[in-house]
Amino acid sequence: MSMIVRRLSRAATAGLVAAAALTAAAHSAEAADTLGSAAAGQGRYFGTAVAASHLGESDYAATLDREFSSVTPENEMKWDATEPSRGSFTFTSADRIVDHAQSQGMDVRGHTLVWHSQLPSWVSPLGAQDLRTAMNAHINGLMGHYKGEIHSWDVVNEAFQDGGSGARRSSPFQDKLGDGFIEEAFRTARAADPAAKLCYNDYNTDGVNAKSNAVYDMVKDFKSRGVPIDCVGFQSHFNSNSPVPSDYRHNLQRFADLGVDVQITELDIEGSGSAQAADYTKVVEACLAVSRCTGMTVWGVTDKYSWRSGGTPLLFDGDYNEKPAYGAVLSALGGSGGPGDPGDPGDPGDGASCTAMYTRTADWSSGYNGQVTITAGAEPISSWTATVTLPAQQSVSSLWNGTPTWSGNVMTVRPSWNGPLAAGASTSFGFTAAKNGSDAAPTVGTCTAS
Ligand code: G3I
Repeated sequence: MSMIVRRLSRAATAGLVAAAALTAAAHSAEAADTLGSAAAGQGRYFGTAVAASHLGESDYAATLDREFSSVTPENEMKWDATEPSRGSFTFTSADRIVDHAQSQGMDVRGHTLVWHSQLPSWVSPLGAQDLRTAMNAHINGLMGHYKGEIHSWDVVNEAFQDGGSGARRSSPFQDKLGDGFIEEAFRTARAADPAAKLCYNDYNTDGVNAKSNAVYDMVKDFKSRGVPIDCVGFQSHFNSNSPVPSDYRHNLQRFADLGVDVQITELDIEGSGSAQAADYTKVVEACLAVSRCTGMTVWGVTDKYSWRSGGTPLLFDGDYNEKPAYGAVLSALGGSGGPGDPGDPGDPGDGASCTAMYTRTADWSSGYNGQVTITAGAEPISSWTATVTLPAQQSVSSLWNGTPTWSGNVMTVRPSWNGPLAAGASTSFGFTAAKNGSDAAPTVGTCTAS
């Protein structure tokens, strides 16, 4: 019954959805001054988790609608919310989010079909055969209801244990159906909605470790045997106990090399100010460096509704003000108009400036090491650009703490992880140059801040 209502409702709102999509397209043709439009310029989506209960709050909805191009229902598509008693599906809250997203031209990630947590109490006591039937019916019920409307589904969530063993996590599915439940869930999901991307999603798999190795082995096995899997989700919940791993990009890339897309699915980073901003920059840069990293989702719009609200881990504070992390993400996505950008009206960063100072830190007969120190002016900055012109004979063999692009012998350097700086704060990048017969010093041009 509810599926029929949903189809009618889709048809009735089709005109509205088309109109909203036009608005979104017109918006993205303008300057990339929002997270969604800047990410679109990089061929990615930028999403957020959404709670249906907050959609009626005008600042929440305005921020969501302005900034994001994809939504993930934070709790509303989970098993306890959608099938609280066996065979009786309720989609009211999830439909609210999907309808809202579609009216704004946003994509929807489905989260999540099979998970040990937020299971209604009727599931756990089932015997093996009955549990298998119930699992497949649940997948078919949800995916059938939203067929053609979800760009990616988290088919199975968090099926591996933390710690060094790489073992599967104990759950009703694992304990009664064995390892094969994951494969069965993916096969059922493919048949239920062939257009949806099917993802495995987990946490503490962001760097190379025993858990991510176990997931890697599973994905490799699935690909070799033709088990349908399209993507791996990296939740990326970070804090001081679980910082952004230094091999994050490498880990994303090794999964992509298996022939699946990778997505950052639940990003949040506890902290504040420039340190938090720098960590967000690392994450965005890692995704942009991996061509199969198709998008990023932060796990909430505002700090005040985060599951880790005490750690202020998101891009907007409790009053929906843009945090330094917001400007850092926008800048890393190649956007403009964030804090520190001259185009952002009323922005305290309108006077953003920086200076660049060169020193030679090591010298030998055939080469030298140079260092350029970037110092923010009287206002915080979210990013900087410095040019270094080398004598014609010289060449640079390596550069660290910066990202160079070349035009002849002019090197333009942008931050790698070290874009955001507090007022008056400094960072530096270094390089090794071969003299090739010229011992002259390079010339450092103007530093540009945003
Ligand atoms: O809505 C009820 C409310 O009526 C009741 O009064 C209150 C009392 O505790 O609970 C409310 O439900 C809470 C729900 O969030 C909505 O706020 C649940 O207790 C609470 O357990 C639930 O937490 C969610 C958590 O998953 C559950 O595991 C978080 O919002 C949600 O952000 C979090 O998301 C997970 C991902 O799905 C999977 N990866 C990890 C991530 C963070 O834990």
